[in-house]
Amino acid sequence: MKEAIEQIFKELEELKATTQKEAEEARVRFLGKKGEITALMEQFRTIAPELKREYGQKLNELKKTALSRIEELKSSAQADNAGSTPKEDLTMPGDAFPLGSRHPVSIVRQQIVDIFRKFGYDVAEGPEIEDDYHVFEALNFPPNHPAREMQDTFFVSTGHLNPLLLRTHTSSVQVRTMESQPLPIRVVCPGRVFRNEAISARAHCIFHQVEGLYIDEDVTFADLKQAILLFAREMFGPDTEIRMRPSYFPFTEPSAEVDVSCNICHGKGCNICKGTGWLEIMGCGMVDPNVLKASGIDPEKYSGFAFGMGVERIAMLKWQVNDLRHYFENDMRFLSEFATATEV
Ligand code: DAH
Repeated sequence: MKEAIEQIFKELEELKATTQKEAEEARVRFLGKKGEITALMEQFRTIAPELKREYGQKLNELKKTALSRIEELKSSAQADNAGSTPKEDLTMPGDAFPLGSRHPVSIVRQQIVDIFRKFGYDVAEGPEIEDDYHVFEALNFPPNHPAREMQDTFFVSTGHLNPLLLRTHTSSVQVRTMESQPLPIRVVCPGRVFRNEAISARAHCIFHQVEGLYIDEDVTFADLKQAILLFAREMFGPDTEIRMRPSYFPFTEPSAEVDVSCNICHGKGCNICKGTGWLEIMGCGMVDPNVLKASGIDPEKYSGFAFGMGVERIAMLKWQVNDLRHYFENDMRFLSEFATATEV
């Protein structure tokens, strides 16, 4: 028995394990149910009583040594495994999460608003479900004007004097602003508008506009022209020219349509500007005295200008998108084109 004990002490000293499994095998070999030390313990019961003291101490020491040695092997195998053979390659680049980006219509709307904010305009908003008064009547639309009819307007409720409808333009926000804000007024009104149109490359039943309104004493058509010129140059580049063509809107007198010089061919004529060198971008004019009066503003003392533009139209011109429907189909191939287009 003495030799057996010495032998195991020696073996324990030389014991090696590189994995957890090997350390566990060593534990079983020495301390398991049928382990070598366990067998010696059993043998101990049968030895002569006078030897019990000596061997008892030795066996206890052996068991303790074996336990701590195996514990040592287990923890060093663990540390080695963590250090030398990691399961994952920690130097591998991580997976990129797909990031969303702003919609081109939002980008352009924000650009338009930012340009006018620089000129000192505030932002005003109004409801998308409006009444006939704010969309038509207060804007000097005669009672039987075709724009009020079913083919253009989505009505929410009819049958009374002031039906509810989806606004067909953001000019309604002009009226709300004149009703509620002190003079002078300088606002831009971005928003979504609705028209009962057949959907095509050039028309949609939902689109976005930005309306502008400036009312003060002595505002003239020259102020309007200058504001639009500055806007056009900020939006389309410093060489941009504008021209104004006489037009008609019930809420402005005189009224004009604004064209900018084509930013593709620079006036030479191309298929975007259909060979004319000019692109139409907005309607505008001097606020009709009837419109001022309807909102309680004295047209003898105050005058003002207004303008309104389609956001999708400006975006189409900026990025040469030839089909309006792209803006509403949420096709990722189209939308991701604008992921980096946040600068003017
Ligand atoms: N409201 C017009 C439209 O929907 C756009 C417009 C034209 C707005 C002339 C104006 C303006 O303020 O003066 O087509």
